[in-house]
Amino acid sequence: MVNNLASILEAVSHSNSYIEALCTCGSERRLSSKDQLYVKKIRNGTVIDHIDPGHALDVLHILDINGKRGEVVSAVLNVESKELGRKDIVKIEDRELNPQEVDKIALIAPKATINIVREYEVTSKKRVELPQTIRGIIKCNNPSCVVNAREPVTSEFKVEVAEPLRIRCHYCGRIMGKDDALKQF
Ligand code: CTP
Ligand code: ZN
Repeated sequence: MVNNLASILEAVSHSNSYIEALCTCGSERRLSSKDQLYVKKIRNGTVIDHIDPGHALDVLHILDINGKRGEVVSAVLNVESKELGRKDIVKIEDRELNPQEVDKIALIAPKATINIVREYEVTSKKRVELPQTIRGIIKCNNPSCVVNAREPVTSEFKVEVAEPLRIRCHYCGRIMGKDDALKQF
């Protein structure tokens, strides 16, 4: 048991995650009563919470985070959530997101909240909001659409349904969904 725990701890620390809820019980170190691993709180940065389960890695992709630039990032996948049943969480230290990045996240994780953390406190919490019209962040996948012409115009979609995502190209009427959006990120 102790050896197992030691190897889990080592693996977790190598993967740049942390355990928040350790307690000492007698001579044995155990995880908290729920046997869950928690990622520790961050000092400054952004926590993207309530991401639809299974989409944390897409969020990292949207934010162009590949770990090679030394960013300190934690991703928690498929953890229990009161509202969603399951959810993913991404914590990024020392970075805030721009509006375009937030709009892209809204397309694939419409219930996500963007928490800005300063000196360990959540100073702002906003749910992502899918605008009624999406301009510029994704292209129409109809090759004959005017947005894909040699002198392209800025793409524009009307959001018909947020979940499951259904957007309609303003120019050619092509309907696209979440998978079409994901392919472009
Ligand atoms: N968080 C963090 N570091 C901090 C503060 C908060 O990583 N210094 C994380 C929390 O772990 C949580 C998210 O940011 O995943 C939002 O924090 P908070 O608003 O304190 O949590 P809740 O009240 O549970 O959020 P909500 O009501 O949005 O579910
Ligand atoms: Zn089109």
